[in-house]
Amino acid sequence: MIEEIPSEPVVITHIIHETPSIRTFEFSRRFEAQAGQFCMVWVPGVDEIPMAFSAGNAITVQKVGEATGALFSLTEGDVIGIKGPLGNGFSPEGRVLAVAGGVGAAPLRPLVTYGQADTFILGARTAEELLYAGELAGKAEDLRIATDDGTRGHHGFVTALLEEADPASYDTICVCGPEMMMKAVLGILDAHGVADRGQFSLHRYMKCGVGICGSCCFDSSGLRVCRDGPVFTGDVLLRSSEFGRYSRDAAGRRIPF
Ligand SMILES: Cc1cc2nc3c(=O)[nH]c(=O)nc-3n(C[C@H](O)[C@H](O)[C@H](O)COP(=O)(O)OP(=O)(O)OC[C@H]3O[C@@H](n4cnc5c(N)ncnc54)[C@H](O)[C@@H]3O)c2cc1C
Ligand code: FES
Repeated sequence: MIEEIPSEPVVITHIIHETPSIRTFEFSRRFEAQAGQFCMVWVPGVDEIPMAFSAGNAITVQKVGEATGALFSLTEGDVIGIKGPLGNGFSPEGRVLAVAGGVGAAPLRPLVTYGQADTFILGARTAEELLYAGELAGKAEDLRIATDDGTRGHHGFVTALLEEADPASYDTICVCGPEMMMKAVLGILDAHGVADRGQFSLHRYMKCGVGICGSCCFDSSGLRVCRDGPVFTGDVLLRSSEFGRYSRDAAGRRIPF
């Protein structure tokens, strides 16, 4: 049975301009969310969209379209609705490596807040789009940075830093970022024989967020990203026909990556 989860009105208390395209919205209520769990955010009069909890009382949003654009027009004191925590989060055990690309750092941030990440690999296109770089430098035990254009850290992709870090020496590898990046990470873990230690947080189009509508079903297993995910282990994704190949839009049409 699927339980009714109400959307709770919360007041935006603080807005942090993290990068030119990403803002963190802190709100008036703290939710008991694990790293990797998400909420459905009601943007009044516009839409309800999935967002990872970047803290118990915060979401971190990249502006990409209508609803995220509307969120960016809100100010402190405005009200949004939060339904959650939803889905399964990361299950960090033993030595933990986090690998983040772009706004994918959002669901991984609580691992650092709770002292659960031994190494954090953070990547972005360019230095000014590195999310939480200052905060992580102060809190993460071992922070490694890559930028596509070489403006900070390693010149290139996070995958080069992953190879250097010896993924087989970690018990859990938590990953979130653009799907092609995650596919490359999974390929490396598989080559090292540790695909099952990888935990990947997926982004898919969602309507209900609670397992009813089927809009987030994943080929070929039919797993629902909102209910059975959004975090899946690498061995499950290796068997999927969809991961790294396509996602679906609101009408269910395939969108190739
Ligand atoms: C579990 C989960 C957690 C997420 N966490 C975050 C987060 O922490 N921060 C964040 O900025 N975004 C996150 N997203 C993605 C976020 O939900 C979308 O960016 C948002 O719904 C886009 O809404 P929009 O109306 O602004 O854009 P639209 O106008 O709907 O679309 C603009 C563009 O974004 C693409 N898009 C739409 N929905 C998604 C989606 N679900 N995943 C990937 N691309 C999408 C569209 O294909 C289009 O190219 C998460 C998604 C999921 C499923
Ligand atoms: S979004 Fe409705 S089933 Fe997942």
